[in-house]
Amino acid sequence: MTDKRPLRSAQWFGTTDKNGFMYRSWMKNQGIPDHEFQGKPIIGICNTWSELTPCNAHFRKIAEHVKKGVLEAGGYPVEFPVFSNGESNLRPTAMLTRNLASMDVEESIRGNPVDAVVLLVGCDKTTPALLMGAASCDVPTIVVTGGPMLNGKHKGRDIGAGTIVWQMHEQYKAGQIDLNEFLSAEAGMSRSAGTCNTMGTASTMACMAEALGTSLPHNAAIPAVDSRRYVLAHLSGMRIVEMVHEDLRLSKVLTKQAFENAIRVNAAIGGSTNAVIHLKAIAGRIGVDLELDDWTRIGRGMPTLVDLQPSGRFLMEEFYYAGGLPAVIRRLGENNLLPNPDALTVNGKSLWGNCAQAPIYGQDEVIRTLDNPLRKDGGICVLRGNLAPSGAVLKPSAATPELMKHRGRAVVFEDFDDYKARIADPDLDVDETCVLVMKNCGPKGYPGMAEVGNMGLPPKVLAKGITDMVRISDARMSGTAYGTVVLHVAPEAAAGGPLAVVRNGDFIELDCYEGRLHLDIPDAELQERLAAWQAPEGLLWDGGYRRLFVEHVMQADEGCDFDFLVGCRGAGVPRHSH
Ligand code: FES
Repeated sequence: MTDKRPLRSAQWFGTTDKNGFMYRSWMKNQGIPDHEFQGKPIIGICNTWSELTPCNAHFRKIAEHVKKGVLEAGGYPVEFPVFSNGESNLRPTAMLTRNLASMDVEESIRGNPVDAVVLLVGCDKTTPALLMGAASCDVPTIVVTGGPMLNGKHKGRDIGAGTIVWQMHEQYKAGQIDLNEFLSAEAGMSRSAGTCNTMGTASTMACMAEALGTSLPHNAAIPAVDSRRYVLAHLSGMRIVEMVHEDLRLSKVLTKQAFENAIRVNAAIGGSTNAVIHLKAIAGRIGVDLELDDWTRIGRGMPTLVDLQPSGRFLMEEFYYAGGLPAVIRRLGENNLLPNPDALTVNGKSLWGNCAQAPIYGQDEVIRTLDNPLRKDGGICVLRGNLAPSGAVLKPSAATPELMKHRGRAVVFEDFDDYKARIADPDLDVDETCVLVMKNCGPKGYPGMAEVGNMGLPPKVLAKGITDMVRISDARMSGTAYGTVVLHVAPEAAAGGPLAVVRNGDFIELDCYEGRLHLDIPDAELQERLAAWQAPEGLLWDGGYRRLFVEHVMQADEGCDFDFLVGCRGAGVPRHSH
């Protein structure tokens, strides 16, 4: 396909003046012949490879396959590294550096001679970070995910990454298994390359990228080590070159309609609560107005069809074999539940055009039917009330139905350290009817909003065989976790939200059916407590990125982006420095 539109990269390589000489000359030290600079689209491969991000540690091989596709289609690939947010190692939380990574991506794209980018993503935060950065530039963009691990194996049964850790740790604390048994599952859980194989945040965001139309079909679920993952990488490399010629920029794909489709799909897959924050942040970067209440309007009441852990039984490997995300989208569309079937995707076809004929395997066990869903009550439950004026969320498919309407006495922890210090105290005044409340774990309070919202239960409650209690915090929760857990309370305690003034013994009412989270004290008393509230000491760090983070991070309902990063700034080429 020929194209008359001037390439962005020509502003570096397309001149015969001093600057053109310099740009080409230094690139030629890599052995690039002159003809590669003669008008071929330059495709950036934005790589989050890192040995400290084990979920993305196989990405060099994926990049090689993307390159083959780019070359075959007549482009020239250039691979570059960006900050890699590995969920498992990074302290205090990979969420702290999601925005940092997005800034790295944005400026790497804008400042370099690339006409389009392929985003290599996998571990949880890498997907939103790279999409946020690319959205702020709005060049043609295609997502290639690293894929999930093979099923974990332990003692002859399948185990899910992350979810088994929470389960076995609870069992260990309750005295049901010993330490050897607990530790013996480590190697079996992570036995291949790839991301967590449950419907945790990584898989959820991979599904979101596909539902948004930013990847080729099947990108979300092909296992990391399946040769078809490399075929998809190759085809993505070919397609991105065509997207340059078609000027198919991200803003043509990431429309409000695309986000509405993604919200509905998130309900159908039983996706992570983290998607609420990440989709808002991505939408903000491309200029789409996405509100917390859109999750109620579009997703609430939608049955969960995909029977994957942590809500259900299976893992991503079975999900792929059952037909993957195209099969889910087909099931939605056939039941008139796909809000915007005509939404454009990166292959130039509509979402429905890609999925209408998708095969569904597995006897409707993994991808269930509308009349036999995993949970009738899926989606994300958005809560509001005097305890969360700007909102909070709960994942119904991971909750205990009997607890979704509950009134209980608050047992309050001032922060995560306080929780850790006292939760196992035999004298803690708590029983299973209480509501565990944890403060100061939000975006500013923890900084980074750690995934600590699924507080483990007090051992003396666990010992009774109780497995769930209502828990409320301004924290996030791992997508692999479960329970009747109210998260993302906004404004957070550290910003002076009402959560900050909850006291031991207060009664709290949770009603997921009415979307209500209420602190049962007189309004005058609430106002009195709020007026007397003082910000916790030590909130502002001495300096560095963490100070920038605390000063500029927005609340959970606003996507936790930095206030100065919201918006699409485009890929206008910066002026020469020489
Ligand atoms: Fe990387 Fe779960 S820790 S995907």
